Amino acid sequence: MPDIDTDLHVKMLKAYMRDALFMNDAIKRGYATRDDMIKAVRSGKLPHQVVENGRTLIKIADLEQVFGKPRSAIYGMQWGDPDTVPPLLYVKQTYVLPYVKPEHVGLEIGPGGGRWTQYLLPMKKLYVVDHYQELLDALQRQINAPNLVSILNSGTDFPGVGDEEIDFLFSFGVFVHLDPHVIESYLKNMWRILKPEGVAFIQYSDKTKIMARINNSFVDTTTESMREMVRDAGYEIILEDNTTLWHSNVVIFRRGSR
Ligand SMILES: C[S@@+](CC[C@H](N)C(=O)[O-])C[C@H]1O[C@@H](n2cnc3c(N)ncnc32)[C@H](O)[C@@H]1O
Repeated sequence: MPDIDTDLHVKMLKAYMRDALFMNDAIKRGYATRDDMIKAVRSGKLPHQVVENGRTLIKIADLEQVFGKPRSAIYGMQWGDPDTVPPLLYVKQTYVLPYVKPEHVGLEIGPGGGRWTQYLLPMKKLYVVDHYQELLDALQRQINAPNLVSILNSGTDFPGVGDEEIDFLFSFGVFVHLDPHVIESYLKNMWRILKPEGVAFIQYSDKTKIMARINNSFVDTTTESMREMVRDAGYEIILEDNTTLWHSNVVIFRRGSR
């Protein structure tokens, strides 16, 4: 079993999913404008607590009761909303939606809070595979769909997924954190589950880009090293996009002839 950083993802989830926010953070997260938030606090409509340094702390449950749940409450939106951040919107429209078809079976590795899962749902079945139960639980609180099948894996495997079952495999925000030997293991295991004509989309770290270099949690992969791993695992590269994203690249591939 490849060694996986067991802390990073659960810690990041817990940091985001606090049960209360300071007023400024609640405004940043999109619950309400500053004016509306202040009005609701001053009128007593929004329960709150004044804590150290006079800061106002508000429970998420109360924010949702008064203002509803903003899109940015989805865990992962802190890294950008694919509906509004231009490079992510481009990725969604160019590389995701064309592969999402009602007759297809999809699989997402590392769904997090469902930032991308929401666009993959219109397939007849969508597997979501994660290494952490906490993250699968967070996704379930966000998305409850009859065609969604959650799988807890051991790090790089696909338990319960049939041979040659997958038309479209997708992963964003995951391989950027996986060490090359874990990536190699994943690539090897994908072969079994991909249909011969199935397509895989992976976003990975590009350490030649400054925004990947200054992020310690991004692994040391590049276009060349990823290309080599994908080809060595026997796949045929359909497309490489090394320009759209600021800290990472996209590679799209399918099974070749081994
Ligand atoms: C940074 S989050 C990204 C979530 C989501 N894809 C997004 O873009 O918002 C990384 C996700 O990958 C999961 N993950 C980390 N290592 C994994 C592994 N070896 N196999 C499957 N999922 C993994 C984490 O639990 C988490 O759900």
